[in-house]
Amino acid sequence: MSIVGIDGLTKRFGGVTAVDRVSLDIGDGEFVALLGPSGCGKTTTLRCVAGLESPDEGTIRLGSGTVVDRSRGYELPPHKRDIGMVFQSYALWPHMSVIQNVSYPLRLKRQRKQAAQAKAMEALELVGLANYAARSVSALSGGQQQRVALARALVREPSVLLLDEPLSNLDAALRTQMRGELKRIHEQTGSTMIYVTHDQEEAVSMSDRIAVMHDGRAVQIGSPREVFDAPSSRWVAEFLGYENILPGLVEAAGDGHARVRPDGWDTSLTCTRAAGCSAGDRVRLAIRSTALLFDHFDSSSDFADRPNRLDVKVLRSTFLGTATDHEVSAFGSRLVAKQIVGGGRPAAPQGADAVVWIEPGQIALIPANDEPADVRTADELATAKPAARGRAS
Ligand SMILES: Nc1ncnc2c1ncn2[C@@H]1O[C@H](COP(=O)(O)OP(=O)(O)OP(=O)(O)O)[C@@H](O)[C@H]1O
Ligand SMILES: [Mg+2]
Repeated sequence: MSIVGIDGLTKRFGGVTAVDRVSLDIGDGEFVALLGPSGCGKTTTLRCVAGLESPDEGTIRLGSGTVVDRSRGYELPPHKRDIGMVFQSYALWPHMSVIQNVSYPLRLKRQRKQAAQAKAMEALELVGLANYAARSVSALSGGQQQRVALARALVREPSVLLLDEPLSNLDAALRTQMRGELKRIHEQTGSTMIYVTHDQEEAVSMSDRIAVMHDGRAVQIGSPREVFDAPSSRWVAEFLGYENILPGLVEAAGDGHARVRPDGWDTSLTCTRAAGCSAGDRVRLAIRSTALLFDHFDSSSDFADRPNRLDVKVLRSTFLGTATDHEVSAFGSRLVAKQIVGGGRPAAPQGADAVVWIEPGQIALIPANDEPADVRTADELATAKPAARGRAS
């Protein structure tokens, strides 16, 4: 049985539905990220699990015990739930030393001072701060304070650890380091972790599974690969940084392969990730800018016999430091192709005719819904704004 079972969880604040029928089962020892943009309900979901918010509907189970069942009006108070929580703001006691902070939850549970301090030292050992036990927490750096907060959450050995954007106050280098530390602690303790973040890299690098949240709903749940390689909707694809999304029609399909013609194009594209598609299906083709590779600037090159070659015009080029984004037009569609600087190929000059090649395995097919078609006309192209980038931070 899973260790956390969330079913139909709904939380409203006045007219705002912050969490909307979220269901999620989390296995023992699993690391699950709640990933989504600001305001999508990540913190509220976590606070409902912790017992810091009272949900309007749904059930929450921790281990074999129900902690919330709204249909029966039942809620277990937070301190009786076997969870630890790390807040974004650390929430440490500034007047206490490191070890006093970490042993505090055990002292609250009336553990004897010596035993509590021994446990606290173990937790400090785990986060690499054993040498700082006697220091005042106010004399620590942000990263060290975050580790104290983590040690304090770990000291009770909760069966589930909830982490709300625990690294967002740290600078980039420390964030990367702490990511590794958290992963190590997860492996070492075997504890179940629910990790809230809006940072995609963080979610991908640490999680067994990711639940993508949008407007209070968990819109896609899967391994990082499943979610990133096969976004379930246009919204998820855009959120995960797919810059190119084209409506199209499946002309032929079989054996996981398909020929798909984007609307308005004279040619179709070969897609090798097309399991479940049938001829006649309306789809959206989601293609990352990095999957559009520039060919050399003459059509006689080695790429000539590869599938998905496109003659394009370079409309605009934006140098981004380590890469250059090129807006190109093909059959009246505007596409973004990212060229990594130093990739050995010449940069495509603005206004030039060029050839790009789309890797057949890099096209994700999303079932079309009833959103309006988004093919741009040539007039729109002429006044096109720079491409929207993925909302990753
Ligand atoms: N106590 C509250 N009272 C009223 N509205 C609230 C309250 N807490 C959250 N909300 C609203 O509920 C929605 C979800 O908020 P939540 O804090 O869960 O988002 P989040 O995904 O954690 O966002 P962020 O990434 O910015 O932390 C938002 O629209 C927010 O304004
Ligand atoms: Mg939040």
